[in-house]
Parts: sequence; structure tokens; C-alpha cells
Amino acid sequence: MRKISVQNLKGGTGKSTTVVNLGAALALKGKRVLLIDTDSQAHVGMHLGIKHSVTLFDLMTIDLSIEEAIINARENLDCIVSDKKVAVLETMLVQMPRREEILRLRARRLKNLKYDYVLVDCSPSISLMHQNALLFADYLLIPVSMDVLSLAGASSIMDSSRMLLQMYEMPLQIMGVLPTIYDGRLNMSKEVVSILETNYKKLTSVLTPIRTDVKLKEAAAAHQTIFEYDPKSRGAEDYMRLADELLELETRLDRQKQKPAEATLTA
Ligand SMILES: Nc1ncnc2c1ncn2[C@@H]1O[C@H](COP(=O)(O)OP(=O)(O)OP(=O)(O)O)[C@@H](O)[C@H]1O
Ligand SMILES: [Mg+2]
Repeated sequence: MRKISVQNLKGGTGKSTTVVNLGAALALKGKRVLLIDTDSQAHVGMHLGIKHSVTLFDLMTIDLSIEEAIINARENLDCIVSDKKVAVLETMLVQMPRREEILRLRARRLKNLKYDYVLVDCSPSISLMHQNALLFADYLLIPVSMDVLSLAGASSIMDSSRMLLQMYEMPLQIMGVLPTIYDGRLNMSKEVVSILETNYKKLTSVLTPIRTDVKLKEAAAAHQTIFEYDPKSRGAEDYMRLADELLELETRLDRQKQKPAEATLTA
């Protein structure tokens, strides 16, 4: 089971779009996928058009089994949804012991549920929920939209994640940096990808960009994955290719586990 937290401290970089459509692509390829939404904006459930009376808030605050929090969204695709109450979790968590580790502890039984991938959607902020997501996951995936602030958000998330993980003597493992909302006609897009390659290629994979496609926006509004809304669209093509790239990365990640000193970020 690979647990991947999708984070960038800049808002609107395509985190939720990636969690839903990458999750859907992996599910279509026969992988068993769980999506966990840790953002009180609750975009994952909204995008997929699902609701559940038990949300992440309950999982984090009440002693219940993780199965009760899981709802099936599509074939091979399950979800733990968020809701507005997750915003007040911050103040509640502050008073709890091991407050950064609650998600990891509550989700321990996940290993019995045989998921191949768990994708965690995160809010664009440093918060206790963000720290919980980080300590729960094995890897970070960082969507970067084609602007300078998004690059800064990626750099901040790496710095803050590294600091937290160092306290737990855990390595920061970045699965990849994903250029999103990429428009090949714009110099800005090309420049941002070139900066990503210069800055991060030695540390992690710079994945093939997800191109701008209004169909991705329309699919979210229609409460459908891009594969349901328009399977022939650019967005569908790009997210299916991203799933393939991720599956190819598996071999590299397994090698990383054997040689953690080479593969993790220390800079
Ligand atoms: N490749 C794309 N092409 C066109 N629009 C996109 C693309 N990816 C995402 N969008 C749109 O951009 C907006 C922001 O995307 P999304 O909600 O996934 O970002 P986010 O990083 O999760 O935002 P937040 O930080 O607020 O949680 C949405 O309206 C989404 O439909
Ligand atoms: Mg989001």
C-alpha cells in the first residue's frame, strides 16, 4: 500500500483535481484506491458527488473503526470525505496528545483493507491536519501550477515537511513534482517547468505536465471524474498517463527503500 499526500502551500494548484482524477485512473487500471480528504473545503466528495454521514472529523475525534468512515465512490475507488467541521479540528487537536499523529494512529487498520494506493488531499496551509497527513503518508506528491507563487509554495512545503519529519527521524520522500494547468503556448509555463527541472530533478521526478483543460473544471462541476465526463479529453489522457508514470515509479521507490540515504532529501 502506497500512501501519498498531495500538498502545496499555494491554493488552486490542482491538488484536489489530481487526487480525484489520479485516483480514478488508478482505479480504472484495477488498483484498489482510497481517497482521504483532509481539507474542510471538502472538494473530493463534492467532485465525486458523494456524501457520507461519517467524515474525517468523526474519525479524528471519536473512537470508531476506519471502515465506518469509508464510503464507496466508484468501482475500486473508496473515500473518506471531509466537511466544514474539519476546520474546527485544529483547535480541538491542539489539546490532544500526539496531535500530529492521530490520523496515522486511527488509520492503522487500513493495512488490513488491502488498498494499493491511498491519496490524501490537503488544504493549502500549514496546519495540524497537514502535519497529520504528512506523518500518515509515505510520500509527498506536489502539484505545481505554472506561476511563481506555486513554485514558492512547493519549496515551503518541502522545507516545513522536512522540519517536521526530522523531529520524528523520518526521511522526506517526494514521489514527484507535478506541473499542472500547463499551457505550452505560454512562456511562463515553459519557464516554470524549466525551473522545476533545474531545482528538483536531482531530488525527485519532475512528472509529465497536466495540460490546461477546461473539461477538468466541467467534470468537477458535473460531479464526475474526467474519465466519466469526457474520456477522450486532454485531461483524461494526462491523468491516465500520470497513473502510468506512477506505476513505473514503483520500481524506483522500492529501490529507494533499500537505499534511503541516496534517495531522500537532506539538503
Ligand atoms: N489542468 C487543469 N486545467 C484547467 N483547470 C484546472 C486544471 N486543474 C485544475 N483546474 C481547475 O483549477 C481550479 C483549482 O483546482 P483544484 O481545486 O484542484 O486546486 P487545489 O490545489 O485543490 O485548490 P485548493 O488549494 O483551494 O484546495 C479548479 O477550478 C479546477 O477545476
Ligand atoms: Mg483542493
